[in-house]
Amino acid sequence: MKLPKVPYLIAIDGPAGSGKGTIAKLISDKLNLNYLDSGAIYRVIALGAIANNIPSDQVLKLISLVGTINMKFEGGDVLLNKEIITDKIRTSEISKFSSEIAVHSRLRDEILNLQRSFNQGNGLVAEGRDMTTVVFPNADLKVYLDASPHERANRRYKQLKLKGNNVNILSLTSEIEARDKRDKERKASPLKIADEAKVLNTDDLTIGQTVDKILTFII
Ligand code: C5P
Repeated sequence: MKLPKVPYLIAIDGPAGSGKGTIAKLISDKLNLNYLDSGAIYRVIALGAIANNIPSDQVLKLISLVGTINMKFEGGDVLLNKEIITDKIRTSEISKFSSEIAVHSRLRDEILNLQRSFNQGNGLVAEGRDMTTVVFPNADLKVYLDASPHERANRRYKQLKLKGNNVNILSLTSEIEARDKRDKERKASPLKIADEAKVLNTDDLTIGQTVDKILTFII
């Protein structure tokens, strides 16, 4: 395995269920880089908004939640103000709400610094929808991970089932398709393939094969 120069910044984008989270985490562990799950930030804001009865179109109220966020990624967990909220932010309600609030460019601007603050020490593996295009346009390596909607819904189904959730594959597929549409068609930082990005379709790749392939891109 070729080790990157230090610091090194890897940005990975892709649609829901493309495997970005798992893959980015594994690569960050292998290369001893920090890890940023940027979707978790939108999910944490959604969690706070729902708890405080803030509707998804009240951008100023949503922005007021940003300053209260003290997040960490530890092991496989997301910590908010030291509380483990990993599973709390993975519900269908939070998935939908987070993609609704992600359309606000003012909210996106407010969390730029928070996202960039994870790029310290040896560097970072950051994953989301606009890591390669907006948040880290100067990343050393840019990757766009994709997979068919059917495969992505299947992966989510297995993940949620394993955690004991009662899920339905058809509603998961339509949730994923609705989120894809919102994420790709919004005006503010839509999900798209950056010019310099390496595009990988993971339909027929295992997690290990995907990680290995990305490691070969390191220069
Ligand atoms: O990645 P994840 O599915 O957890 O993200 C939840 C939602 O947050 C996405 O559907 C998307 O709308 C939004 N998001 C975003 N930009 C990012 C990461 C996530 O708009 N960089």
